[in-house]
Amino acid sequence: MEIVRVSVRRRATRAALTLILGLTACSPGGGSTGDGIPPAAPAAKAALPLIPAGAGIERVNDLVKDPARDPLPADPRMAEAVKLGLEIFRRTPELARAYVGNRMTCANCHMNGGQREKALPLVGVAATFPQYRGRDGRLLTLEDRIAGCFQRSLNGSAPPHDSREMLALSAYIAWISEGQPVGATPTWLGQNRIAPENLLPIERLDPRRGEQIFLARCVACHGVDGQGIDLGFARPGPLWGPDSWNDGAGAARIYTLAGYLRYAMPLTVPGSLTDEEAQHVAAYINSKDRPSFPAKDGDYPGGEAPVDAVYYPRYPRNPLLR
Ligand code: HEC
Ligand code: HEC
Repeated sequence: MEIVRVSVRRRATRAALTLILGLTACSPGGGSTGDGIPPAAPAAKAALPLIPAGAGIERVNDLVKDPARDPLPADPRMAEAVKLGLEIFRRTPELARAYVGNRMTCANCHMNGGQREKALPLVGVAATFPQYRGRDGRLLTLEDRIAGCFQRSLNGSAPPHDSREMLALSAYIAWISEGQPVGATPTWLGQNRIAPENLLPIERLDPRRGEQIFLARCVACHGVDGQGIDLGFARPGPLWGPDSWNDGAGAARIYTLAGYLRYAMPLTVPGSLTDEEAQHVAAYINSKDRPSFPAKDGDYPGGEAPVDAVYYPRYPRNPLLR
């Protein structure tokens, strides 16, 4: 039964993949990166508890650690919570409806259940809390951080820390963090970042150039309207508009989004955008309208919002609208 289901899914994946590859010329050639960085060496990466960054689109649902296969906590109530947590992670609007205000899932951004290298992985993060964050101006727990993604990335509201949804998500994230020493930051965190010396000043970002790159490299899966095409095995969330992340989300910051795109997208050839291209595309995406986070005025209590927070009151209007 299980074998039949898997092989049907594989076939659907292959069919969709053929379709996408037929539609788009998004590969600049054989997985080498656009700016001279050699492709990841598979042998060296095998030790990471993550799906490698270069894994193809057909592996977007693969997990290194899978509750359907790997040993779960001995307590059956914990085991149930871990399984439910992954389900919520993948089908957030459906299974955590009360707290979600758009069409995004956690897995849209934290790909492969938060287990993919260079796609904001969450493996090990449970061991890194509490953490100080300047945006909030205080120490945050893992639950605070999950709540933040609900309020901002999912344009919704914070599930109470003792809600079924929050407990399940934190149980899943704790499970994929097992074995990580508390207090040490795993080497694979913080990789979706462009080197500071390669960041373009905001006034040099060109949303029109970003649009050209978007049309050439992204629309096969995201659509010209950015709302995401159902690929069968996955459907990207809307990149802008009322069903996308709100303007207080991490992804609404140009350099944060660019760091994601630089290493995680296009899904067929991640790593193929240059630092510069990733920033222009991020500028295009964040030049668009998106829901407004009502509590923006309370962010950055220590001072002004960072320069790339283009939707914040430090700018009288979005500086990318030229
Ligand atoms: C629109 C993309 C997006 C979605 C959807 C999203 N996140 Fe995030 N998440 C981010 C970004 C970007 C960051 C880190 C950067 C930031 O917030 O400045 C982050 C950070 C986190 C962190 C902290 C990771 C660390 O390294 O400390 C956790 C935990 C987290 N998200 C959980 C979730 C959960 C659970 C969901 C679903 C309820 C979710 N996220 C949905 C984009 C997203
Ligand atoms: C081959 C298909 C494909 C291409 C090409 C592609 N993406 Fe994606 N993208 C996806 C899929 C699928 C997801 C969601 C993955 C999941 O849910 O597991 C995704 C997720 C994203 C996300 C996370 C937030 C969201 O809305 O889902 C962003 C941002 C993103 N893509 C931007 C881009 C940009 C910009 C490009 C072009 C440079 C691009 N993508 C090219 C398939 C693609």
